[in-house]
Amino acid sequence: MKDLLGIKVLITAGPTREPIDAVRYLSNYSSGKMGYALASVAAQRGAEVVLISGPVALDPPQGIKLISVVTARDMLKAVEENFSEVDIALCSAAVADYRPLQTSDRKLKKESDREALTTITLVENPDILATIGAQKVGGQLVIGFAAETEDLIENAQKKLRAKHADLIVANEVGQGKAFGTDDDEVVLVSQNDISRLPKLPKMKVAEAIFDKAMQLRSSLN
Ligand code: CTP
Repeated sequence: MKDLLGIKVLITAGPTREPIDAVRYLSNYSSGKMGYALASVAAQRGAEVVLISGPVALDPPQGIKLISVVTARDMLKAVEENFSEVDIALCSAAVADYRPLQTSDRKLKKESDREALTTITLVENPDILATIGAQKVGGQLVIGFAAETEDLIENAQKKLRAKHADLIVANEVGQGKAFGTDDDEVVLVSQNDISRLPKLPKMKVAEAIFDKAMQLRSSLN
């Protein structure tokens, strides 16, 4: 089914890395599997896909444009350069919420740089989903993800409103769930609807997300 023919899709995926010095960084356990599954499904269904990815150990799907980035700020820049052209943006990246205020181009030494290594001041990174949620114009759909350990639906609804998203894919995490696994049990939360999906392989979850996106798109137009 080529129901995404003529549609441009932007996807953020994977973790970001926030440098401390020449050899150290802050990051998280995101595997990028969900974002790469979304890119693969969108391409199969005929979309033109731009995948903006942090560092992951995955091969990009065939027939898409991959933009590789490292930090949250690089990711935001790549997203902003492409967002005005796209119909659907999906922010599945696990963006590091904070980055070290100071970074060193050389390797900090355990002894002589003890102070710098034991007192790393963090500053907040830009929120990519909220940035494009605020910029979107009629007809553009913005989809976010929420990984929560508690109050799944309420927190997803809060994120939907706060970040001006059209849909939040809410995922319960903790106790071995979600990060790095091949299956997900998600809830699709939009302004007027809550749909609980059974536990499914990430490719099937990606299919369901695009089904929902196309339904939301037809109600926008
Ligand atoms: N996100 C983003 N840029 C950030 C942080 C998050 O684009 N700097 C996006 C993620 O890609 C995801 C959504 O926002 O689509 C939810 O991210 P999450 O980390 O769950 O939410 P936060 O807003 O960071 O809130 P909290 O950590 O309190 O849950």
